[in-house]
Amino acid sequence: MDKCKTYINEFDELIEGGFIPNSANLLAGKTGTGKSSFCMSFAYCGAKEGESCVYISTEETIEDIKKDATAVFNWDMEKLEKDNLLRFISIRRDFPTEMSGEEKKIIQLYISDISAQIAEAVKEMGAKRVVFDSISTLELFIRDDYLARNAIMDLLDKMKELGVTALLTGTIPEEGGKLSNLGIVEFLVDGVIKLDFVPVIEKFKRTITVRKMRRINHSSLIHPFEITGDGIKILNIA
Ligand SMILES: Nc1ncnc2c1ncn2[C@@H]1O[C@H](COP(=O)(O)OP(=O)(O)OP(=O)(O)O)[C@@H](O)[C@H]1O
Ligand SMILES: [Mg+2]
Repeated sequence: MDKCKTYINEFDELIEGGFIPNSANLLAGKTGTGKSSFCMSFAYCGAKEGESCVYISTEETIEDIKKDATAVFNWDMEKLEKDNLLRFISIRRDFPTEMSGEEKKIIQLYISDISAQIAEAVKEMGAKRVVFDSISTLELFIRDDYLARNAIMDLLDKMKELGVTALLTGTIPEEGGKLSNLGIVEFLVDGVIKLDFVPVIEKFKRTITVRKMRRINHSSLIHPFEITGDGIKILNIA
């Protein structure tokens, strides 16, 4: 089967060559574990190989996403943007502020508006990949859990319909055993990757674990990784 390679050094080896095309994958981790850095590596490395990517941020402005990336990575993203291989969309300021009895309708309209923005960019670019950083913002701002679940399901359905391979991030709450705020996205997606920040002697190290990847005999080891100027680097491949 053809795979959607992440092109992240050694990560593809952990999942038998890459994501299943048209799958949805959750990258879950507590704050500062490296989720956005992983997303940027997935987007940039794919775009460089000619697989265009739409990068949606619910948390940052386009200017800030780029500032973060250029501060860490030695990458020329402007060239890829000019060549229509990489496009950033910020939906940070689009959250509806007024919620009333009409909440359900407002959320449905909101999700269909986000979906339309994604669909337009995907179609214009012939994009194969979508990054959505982060799904937690949706979980947090939609107060009603039932509506939030429906909204997330609608968004995932849209990604499937568009035929893209999706990488979504979720912030794991500091307390409790859930992999997302509502504890639902992890069941709806095809793959779950978990990032951790663990104390080793007197310092912290970042680790990556593949928690599930449907139809893939994935690594079940805990792999340390580093954020380097060339992107995410997985260490100690067994
Ligand atoms: N070259 C580097 N080496 C090690 N750490 C780095 C490097 N560059 C950035 N960092 C750190 O990596 C951390 C994680 O960054 P990132 O934004 O990817 O995490 P995140 O999981 O998306 O966090 P958030 O919860 O804010 O969304 C930051 O605290 C940053 O300081
Ligand atoms: Mg982040």
